[in-house]
Amino acid sequence: MSLLRVALPALAVVGSAYAASCSTSATTTIQNGGDASAIASCTTYSGSVAVATGVVDDIAFEGNLKAIDGDLVLESNSDIKRFGSSSLRSVSGKLTLNDVSQLAALSFPALNEVAELTLKGLPNLRTLEFNLTKADKLDIENTKLQNLDGIDLEEVSSIFIANNDDITSIEMQVTNITEFITLSFNNAEVNVSFPKLESANNISFRAIGSLNIPSLSKINSGSFGVFESDNLESVFAPNLTKIDGALVIDNNKGLKNISFASLTDVGANLQIANNTNLHQIDSFPKLENVQAALDLSGNFSKVETPSLDFVKGVFNLQSTGDIGSVCADFYDPLKSKGKLQKGKYVCKGKLEEASTAGSTPKSGSGGSDDDKKGVAVGMTVPSISLGLVGLVAVLLL
Ligand SMILES: *[C@@H]1O[C@H](CO)[C@@H](O)[C@H](O)[C@H]1NC(C)=O
Ligand SMILES: *[C@@H]1O[C@H](CO)[C@@H](O)[C@H](O)[C@H]1NC(C)=O
Ligand SMILES: *[C@@H]1O[C@H](CO)[C@@H](O)[C@H](O)[C@H]1NC(C)=O
Ligand SMILES: *[C@@H]1O[C@H](CO)[C@@H](O)[C@H](O)[C@H]1NC(C)=O
Ligand SMILES: *[C@@H]1O[C@H](CO)[C@@H](O)[C@H](O)[C@H]1NC(C)=O
Ligand SMILES: *[C@@H]1O[C@H](CO)[C@@H](O)[C@H](O)[C@H]1NC(C)=O
Ligand SMILES: *[C@@H]1O[C@H](CO)[C@@H](O)[C@H](O)[C@H]1NC(C)=O
Ligand SMILES: *[C@@H]1O[C@H](CO)[C@@H](O)[C@H](O)[C@H]1NC(C)=O
Repeated sequence: MSLLRVALPALAVVGSAYAASCSTSATTTIQNGGDASAIASCTTYSGSVAVATGVVDDIAFEGNLKAIDGDLVLESNSDIKRFGSSSLRSVSGKLTLNDVSQLAALSFPALNEVAELTLKGLPNLRTLEFNLTKADKLDIENTKLQNLDGIDLEEVSSIFIANNDDITSIEMQVTNITEFITLSFNNAEVNVSFPKLESANNISFRAIGSLNIPSLSKINSGSFGVFESDNLESVFAPNLTKIDGALVIDNNKGLKNISFASLTDVGANLQIANNTNLHQIDSFPKLENVQAALDLSGNFSKVETPSLDFVKGVFNLQSTGDIGSVCADFYDPLKSKGKLQKGKYVCKGKLEEASTAGSTPKSGSGGSDDDKKGVAVGMTVPSISLGLVGLVAVLLL
């Protein structure tokens, strides 16, 4: 492919190892270790740097290099085993490592700041060496990383960490996540801890092992979902007051305990379904408003939402367990007072099967059922494959 377009010609003309041009408007493509050394002779390199796909040398930017004002990209390379720089502190654009099958060492111990860090398709990479506190976007997928040591972001807009079977711990000191955080199918027992996180937009956790979010107080313009986490025993969000979008807790087989002690408002659906071992929903003491469907199904022996005052969408509470007289004593009266706004209303315990909103309860006793037609018009039951997008759209009736 293309040769090193800038650094080498400059070297040849001037004849000095340190006369490489330190800026280029195009992308400089590195062909070997020597090209990397030429770039590393600059303190700041202005321009983007890419490593050619056929390079077999390990690549180290050793010299003066402190900043790359551009992107640094290593992609689709099947030979490079080591890549790094001991002096590089910042990359103003993207640092991307994608599909580098032999990469076993990624060492940027001084790197504090990048705009976007992408680590994808790195089946041999088990550890990282970074000192990263600032990145706007973080995307880590399909690696053999065992932890994220060296990445402790204080500021970030989005985090996507998925399909890294060996990551057993994800912990960061970030306070605000201004776009989204998605953690999905990493190690099934991964401990997730964001001790200082106060606000985030969309949060989506799939297959996590534990969750620590003591400071989280707001979900702005997005939803909070916990899915398919068989090893997760509890979800406690003690300081969370408002969720702008939906709250969805589905298909977590090991979940025994949830608590949202401060939550007052859910801006879209609140759905809790298919959490086989969750027997109590008594952990929403302050919940007042649900702006779409309130949809609780499971084997509950206790359900309590004492402050509930408004549900804009469908109301569905179905339990295989005996939920006592809570339908007659609490939810039926709310319904009569017009606080549960939609016609579709199901509140039943002791069912053979408890289903999500839109399905007809099987052989219930007690409670009442205004849902004469069974399945609500135009309503499809969301499937596991639907993300939060689907859920928000589907149940907003
Ligand atoms: C890591 O970054 C911090 C500042 O964020 C700095 O104090 C520390 O010296 C850095 N460590 C290394 C090895 O560069
Ligand atoms: C998660 O943390 C717990 C408690 O500190 C620990 O016992 C467990 O081994 C951790 N899980 C993993 C997968 O490392
Ligand atoms: C986090 O976001 C909130 C608004 O949601 C803002 O008030 C606060 O200053 C932000 N904190 C930081 C550390 O950026
Ligand atoms: C919870 O919120 C209160 C009130 O905003 C605050 O004082 C407290 O520090 C928060 N707790 C944590 C663990 O962040
Ligand atoms: C849930 O956790 C809370 C707080 O740790 C505890 O008080 C409560 O007993 C737990 N409930 C169940 C059913 O384990
Ligand atoms: C509901 O949970 C109770 C207590 O764990 C259990 O005995 C019962 O078999 C469960 N019922 C169903 C239908 O799963
Ligand atoms: C609950 O589990 C059943 C059976 O596996 C599945 O058909 C249904 O889609 C699940 N519901 C949700 C909300 O994921
Ligand atoms: C949050 O997720 C919803 C649905 O997936 C999407 O429409 C919205 O744009 C997301 N918001 C942010 C800030 O990422």
